[in-house]
Amino acid sequence: MKSSITIKSIRQKYAEDFRKKLATGQIASPIRDLAIMMGECQREARAQKLKLRKFDLVNLTIGDVEPRFFHVDGDKNLANELGLDPFGTVRKKINERILELRKLAWKTGTEPRTGYQPEALGMPLLREKFVEFINSYGFDYSVGETVIQYGSLPGIHAVLEGVRTQTQGKAVFVAPTPGFSVFYTQAKRLGLQFLGIQSQAADGYCCTPQALEATLTKIKTLPAILYLTPMNNPTSTVYNRATLAATLQVFQRMQPAGIILVDLAYLEMIPKSDALQLLRLFKTTHVLDQSIMVTSISKMFGYPRLRCAALLMKNPQLMKLLQDTAQVDYASISSGVELEGVALWEIIKPGSRKKMFALFQKRQQALLRWLQQINETREKNHQSPVVALNQAYTQVPLYVYIKLAPGVNFLDFFVETGICGVSGSVFGDIDQNNMLRLAVGIEPLANLSREPEAKT
Ligand SMILES: Cc1ncc(COP(=O)(O)O)c(C=O)c1O
Repeated sequence: MKSSITIKSIRQKYAEDFRKKLATGQIASPIRDLAIMMGECQREARAQKLKLRKFDLVNLTIGDVEPRFFHVDGDKNLANELGLDPFGTVRKKINERILELRKLAWKTGTEPRTGYQPEALGMPLLREKFVEFINSYGFDYSVGETVIQYGSLPGIHAVLEGVRTQTQGKAVFVAPTPGFSVFYTQAKRLGLQFLGIQSQAADGYCCTPQALEATLTKIKTLPAILYLTPMNNPTSTVYNRATLAATLQVFQRMQPAGIILVDLAYLEMIPKSDALQLLRLFKTTHVLDQSIMVTSISKMFGYPRLRCAALLMKNPQLMKLLQDTAQVDYASISSGVELEGVALWEIIKPGSRKKMFALFQKRQQALLRWLQQINETREKNHQSPVVALNQAYTQVPLYVYIKLAPGVNFLDFFVETGICGVSGSVFGDIDQNNMLRLAVGIEPLANLSREPEAKT
């Protein structure tokens, strides 16, 4: 007897299950749990011996990068150029450079050691590489103002932890929403008060000076930590310059001892001239002394798994706070990570990273075309559209932030289209806005063929 199980019924089953778990608070990390759900759908489809076509299960959940698929819709040599192809010549060169650095350290008795690094700030040579990079955006940071961390996540966590200890839990974490809410969860888990400020697309989803002022008025006596992502995830927008300048001025006036965390995870993904103009504002509004720049190898090199980032700051007390935290929490960064970080900065060309961002842009465009086709097909069948294409944001090449049609929930959208993204509400957007974040680092979207939809 022919089985009645179809790929759509599998999507339906898992979506319903996810919906229930979400409603009953069983989901700890919605993005990761959605990525896991996609894996489960795929396994079940295989177990049912269903023939999966490219667009039956499209995982646009997690903002990760899969270089194994670069060649499918991008440059054949790109994974190699980025040192991510283990069979490639560039990976070999990186490995050779790592060995060379070890030999040099052995001969000269300098970093990296086999023992601990007492300062726990990270290998000076690697700090130098991050400094060179950030200073190319108009700053003048030094190695002594830089600390290496296992990615932005632990880096910002270390700041929050240090400030919490210092203020006996009295600091308040303030951030625009929607935003990269993992940090909002970190703050809450550490027992810090979190105040989100609803922001708008017109401001690039930067909080406005008026909204920030209203929030800071409420917490006048407490130290505030303001988290900003000028190249924003999930919204794929870049902060409006005038809004950012005015917002920084308000913070400086109302919180002269507060901290500004500037998350630059996607710094290289936008045109350099735009980034330069935005980052200049931290100098012109005189907030550099209270700011921490967070820059990471993760997304910019397509290598989040390396776990390597740097925090850069002018304020010596903050530097000391982080050093104290690092010395107690993890003793020293692994020299394996440090050496690989150095080799990547030396060997991977900025042009190769740009090629990767261009590939993501190609995928964004292909995705939007595909969504348009879905809308058109539905229209022909007298069905309402699933997305509002005039409200799609794409300034950060790794993401598309788009409005779903009224009444279409992100799980309904998945069941209907096979495309799984993450609801904007996961990032603190309001439910009524009905936004969806789609991440294009994994699936070779630019190459999705136009096979006819299976009968479901
Ligand atoms: C804005 C933002 N900051 C930080 C991170 C995490 O960075 P890392 O891999 O350096 O911990 C992400 C990951 O998606 C992000 O989107």
